[in-house]
This record gives sequence, C-alpha cells and structure tokens, in this order.
Amino acid sequence: MLHTKLTIARDANEPLPVTQGRLLDFPDDPIACMRRLHAAHGSVCAMEEDGQRIYFVFGPEYNHQVLSDSNTFHSRFFAIRGGRNSSQRRLSSGLLSMNGDQHKRNRRMVMDAFMKKAILNYLPAIRIEVESMLSDWTPGNERDISRDMTDFMLRLTSSILFGLDQPQVAYKIGHMIDHWVHLNHEIGMGAFVSDPTIANRYGDLLAEANELEGQILGMIRMRKANPTGRDALSMLINAHDAEGSISEEELVGQAALMFAAAHLTTAHSLTWTLFLLAQHPSVMNGLHQELTKELDGGFPTLEQVERLSLTERVIKESMRILPASSYSQRITAVPVELGPFKLAPGAGIVFSQFITHHLPEIYSEPDTFQPDRWLTMAPSPYQYLPFGAGPRMCLGAPLAMLIMKATLPTILQRFKLTVVPNTEVSGKVISTMLGPTTSVMMRIEHQDGRFESQPVRGNIHQMVDLREIRTARRAA
Ligand code: HEM
Repeated sequence: MLHTKLTIARDANEPLPVTQGRLLDFPDDPIACMRRLHAAHGSVCAMEEDGQRIYFVFGPEYNHQVLSDSNTFHSRFFAIRGGRNSSQRRLSSGLLSMNGDQHKRNRRMVMDAFMKKAILNYLPAIRIEVESMLSDWTPGNERDISRDMTDFMLRLTSSILFGLDQPQVAYKIGHMIDHWVHLNHEIGMGAFVSDPTIANRYGDLLAEANELEGQILGMIRMRKANPTGRDALSMLINAHDAEGSISEEELVGQAALMFAAAHLTTAHSLTWTLFLLAQHPSVMNGLHQELTKELDGGFPTLEQVERLSLTERVIKESMRILPASSYSQRITAVPVELGPFKLAPGAGIVFSQFITHHLPEIYSEPDTFQPDRWLTMAPSPYQYLPFGAGPRMCLGAPLAMLIMKATLPTILQRFKLTVVPNTEVSGKVISTMLGPTTSVMMRIEHQDGRFESQPVRGNIHQMVDLREIRTARRAA
C-alpha cells in the first residue's frame, strides 16, 4: 500500500514540533543532532533557522511514507550540478540524481550488472584484491584497519567496475572519482556555510570534473573496443531496452555514481565489523568456530559462503548498530502532508537508518552488539534498512554482502585482530556515510583462537555500548 500521508492524532492547539537552531548543527554532528531532535519531538519534526527548515522523520512509519512514494519524495544526491553542458553535470547525473520514468528506465538498464548471476563474475577480483592486501600484513605489526579497508575497496571497486585487464588505469580512475566525490562534499558544504575560501574552489571542482570525464570516456571507448563482458562497465555498455542502449554521456554519470555508492560504504562496513568483532571476544570465538568448521583456510567458494550463517548475522548486526549509510534525504516534488506539517514542493526531508536501528521499541538493548538477535528477529524493510528501502533500494546490496561475506572470513581465518589498547576510535557521518574519523589501530597476529577486547577511547562509546559485562552475560 502506498502512503501519501501519515497522520498521527494530535491536538490542533499543540505547537508544531519545530526546534529553532543553527541548521549547521546538523552537518556538524548529524547523529548528535538527530538524537536531540528525536528525544525532543519523537517521530517527525523540523529544525528552523531564519524561516528556513529541514524536516526530519524517525522510525518505520515515516520511513515507509517517504521511501515508498518516489513520485512525491524525490532524490537529490549531488548539491553542485554545474552548467547544463558541463562535465560536472554529466558526472553528477547517475541513478541517485534521477527521478520518475528516467530513474525507472535507467535502474532497469543497470540492474543486470548487479544481479546474482553477474556478481559471481566479480569473485575472482575479490579474491585477487583480498590476497594482495593480506600479503602486506605481517604478524606482530599494528595497522590502521580503516585505511586498509578503504584502499582495498578502492582497488576492488575499480576492478569490478572497469575490469581486471588494466588494473593501473582502473585504479587511477577510481582514485580520481574518489577525489572528485570528496571535493563535491567539501565545496557543497562551502556553499552551505558561505565560506569564500571553500567556495573559491568551485573552479577546481569543474577542472577536475573535465579531466575525470575524459578519463572515464577513454575507459568506455577502450571497453567498447575490447569488451571483456565480465566487468560492470562492459555490462552497462551492452545493456539495452526498446528505446536503445545507454548513451556515452549517461554511462559517465552511472559509472561515477556506482563508484561513489560502492567504495566507502563497503569499506566502512568492513572496518566497523572488524572493530566490533575484536571488541566482542565471545562473538569472535563463535565466529572462529564457524570458520574452522566450514572453511579450509583459504578464500571461500560460493557454496561455503552460503553456509556461513553466523558470519551473516554478524554483518547484519554490524550494519544495524553502525550503518555505513546513516541518513539520506529527499526533496518534495509536490505539496504533501507529513504528520502535522504541510510541505510545499522543494522541502528537504532527512530520514535516518541510525536512529531507526537504535529504537528500543524495535531492538532490545539497541546499543549492544548481539548478532544472535537475528536468530529470532524479522523486522520490516522500514525497520531495518542499511541498504535503504522501496523503489531506490541499493542496487549493489547483493554485491556488497558477497564482498563482506568472502573478505571477512579470508582475513579472520589467517589473522587475529586485537584493538591497540587505549587507542581512540571515533566516527562521524560525512556526506551521509558513517565512517571512522580516527585511525582504527589493530595489532595483527597469527590466528590462534584466543580473543581479548581492549579499552578504547573516543566517541564510539556514544554510538555503541562496548561494556565487557554485557559480552560476559551473553556468553554465560
Ligand atoms: C555496505 C555497502 C553499501 C551500503 C551500506 C549501501 C547503501 C545504500 C543506500 C542506503 C542506498 C539508498 C539511498 C537512498 O535511498 O537515498 C543505496 C543506493 C544505491 N547503491 Fe548502495 N550501498 C552499498 C554498496 C553498494 C555497492 C557495492 C554498489 C554497487 C555499485 C551500490 C550501488 C548503489 C546504487 C546504484 C544506488 C542507487 C539506487 C537507486 O537510486 O535506484 N551500493 N545504497
């Protein structure tokens, strides 16, 4: 059933749930700001400064209203679109910037590259990249796991999207896309805070977009001349429907968006999962037993991956408690009622995976890491939404799960990871993604099956309850 309006009974004289405050409090610390708003107003509210508002919805009912109705609630991913005929405009025109029929058509066209049959083609790339990363790990060393996972996903995303035959070219383009996405975020923020030193870098962004588009076009033409059929770009080039195939201009935007959507989300999810496991020895012990029983020490086959049920629960729980995508936004396309508010077209609405996943009425002891809760839980798509929900749900979810379910066991069969005592672990949502803002330092040792958590500092304690007492109680 499509909801176009959700009304919760309220007294007509009750004041509207609006907090007056600095709108910049939100990007400064999205989680703290959303928690404050949720505690003050419940499931729907607005923050207002000088008559300008951002609306917030928290929880499954409003997630359903906003995410299931993509005609009313449009997506807008990139803040800076550039001039009509610019490289910036074409690069920022991927799936997450499309709406209506254009979105439906393009989603259908690119979908095949991320369906189960296609993603099996990407297993060799996952294996090559994880083996290559682990060949640099030496027992006894301390490593920044966040940096390792980010670099691993940069190489892997480049290979999956652009092919294995030209790894250096693919990696170079991947690196450039990553840099361009960062610049978009920084300069988008600059426009928001009217900071001239940042806003002056608009020219840098356009110049970088020109160069990046040239490189992606070069790759597209090379793929057209030498199709491998096994990388995502080749599949997009071959995709067609009654109206024809995807044009080169559209391919540029789709490739850039796919890269941006895949890289850091998966890297952060891997980092948080390794960190949570290291800090929960009883869970890690159970996982070690599963990996010893089901695998033979190497990179798992697909059949083996499918038998790893605790591995799957660990990943689901990690993406619940520290969702890499912690909020997203929509813009109203038509007038609509949102709880007590009457919204005009163009109103910005934020919904949040983080707040939804920490609601005690859905998840008992929501701040604790308990993978076994998934033995009995079956939340609705709007109660558990690490990959979003509705018509724009993540197209790469099966691929992301395959990467994590093959990579984590390969790492953890070989190495024991222990957090360096008293290290600081802090995180923040930047550009909708919750990732570490500090190094996540871990000691690497041969896997010996003996696990111990360590004291850590940092704002991680505001997001996750890491107290050992709970681990001990669960293990008892
Ligand atoms: C753990 C990793 C990932 C997470 C947490 C994640 C999360 C999400 C979320 C929450 C959305 C919906 C955004 C919204 O509704 O505004 C989304 C959309 C999308 N994701 Fe992912 N994603 C991940 C990995 C990937 C991968 C590996 C790809 C592969 C290319 C990918 C491609 C996409 C695309 C193309 C969309 C846009 C779908 C549309 O608008 O129709 N994602 N992702």
